[in-house]
Amino acid sequence: MRYTVPSRLLELEESATLKASEKANEMIAKGINVYKLDVGEPDFSTPKKIIDAAYNAMLNGYTHYASSAGVIQLRETIAEKYSVNVSNVIVTPGSKQGIFYALYAILNPGDEVLILNPSWSSYKQIIKLAGGVPVEIDTDDNFEPDLERIKNKINKKTKAIIVNSPNNPTGAVYSDRTVKELSELAKEKGLFVLSDEIYDRLVYEGNFVSFRKYINYDEGLILINGFSKAYAMTGWRLGYAIASPEIIKQMAKIQGHTATSPATFTQIAAITALKECEEDVKSMVKEFSERRKIIIELLDEKGIKYVKPNGAFYFFIDLGKYIKGTDPAEFLLEKARVSVTSGLGFGDNYPTYIRISYAASRETIISGLNSIFNAIGI
Ligand SMILES: Cc1ncc(COP(=O)(O)O)c(C=O)c1O
Repeated sequence: MRYTVPSRLLELEESATLKASEKANEMIAKGINVYKLDVGEPDFSTPKKIIDAAYNAMLNGYTHYASSAGVIQLRETIAEKYSVNVSNVIVTPGSKQGIFYALYAILNPGDEVLILNPSWSSYKQIIKLAGGVPVEIDTDDNFEPDLERIKNKINKKTKAIIVNSPNNPTGAVYSDRTVKELSELAKEKGLFVLSDEIYDRLVYEGNFVSFRKYINYDEGLILINGFSKAYAMTGWRLGYAIASPEIIKQMAKIQGHTATSPATFTQIAAITALKECEEDVKSMVKEFSERRKIIIELLDEKGIKYVKPNGAFYFFIDLGKYIKGTDPAEFLLEKARVSVTSGLGFGDNYPTYIRISYAASRETIISGLNSIFNAIGI
């Protein structure tokens, strides 16, 4: 039988970040030395305590189905951390899946969802999968949300806004004032705020302000977080969402008919992550902070302009002054053997930008940056 892609999938695009990384991996498989500054995942191992906890959980029988909102002990631990009730919490296979459930739970077909560019490429695709229409709005020159631009895009169809601080790809950590003003605007206009706080532990300068400071769950806040970034657990596929019980109930219904729940023993192990791994998180943050300093020094030495990223593990840099007429990420892979992610993966208006991830060793970062400087002749 001839397969035809259904119309709802025709507009779905592949992940830009994964595509770039795959190309570099193909070159590495051919024996070519490539400095990889592309991936969005910590290069550290998952702390051993968490791995042991998963092993013990399996030995202790946590190898069966769990309830569709997640294992109760983990939901209780998360509820305690956020001072909410268990009915406000769902555990999901990765926060990405949580974002999908949340949007599926709130959107009617054709509802508009605001995203602030540059933004993580999956938001746009997940909105489309959930039947919504992404509306992209550029942030200001410091990668902070521009309230006037946002106001201008709100209409009767606008249902939600997605915010992400600390931000992928810019590393921006929104100021207290921005979080307050955005929360107030959302409340005034009756919009859901889907706040993706997955990088909340990775802050190096200034303070992280959660949207929960200014908007409550019953006022429309849907908070997304997970274990991938803070605990180096990307492969475990474990995230969670906190929202009003009505929304959590719908999200659990969707999960119940699809994933059922994340793996049971991984959920038990995640309790150890939340309760016993503070020192591990701190030492990973310390190393990220050192790498960030190294990059700042190297860029400053060469006079390359950038907006200083205060969180996550990325720099989003405009190389338009140095690389003309071609995608800088493609140019750098070919000429410098450095794999970075193209700015186009984060919004149409960033063709001259690259995202550098410093979830890589100091040696890779230093050699990779020097190779970039060579290739662009500075
Ligand atoms: C902003 C942002 N949100 C969510 C995710 C997905 O995380 P998870 O591994 O929990 O699905 C990523 C991963 O790169 C991300 O950058």
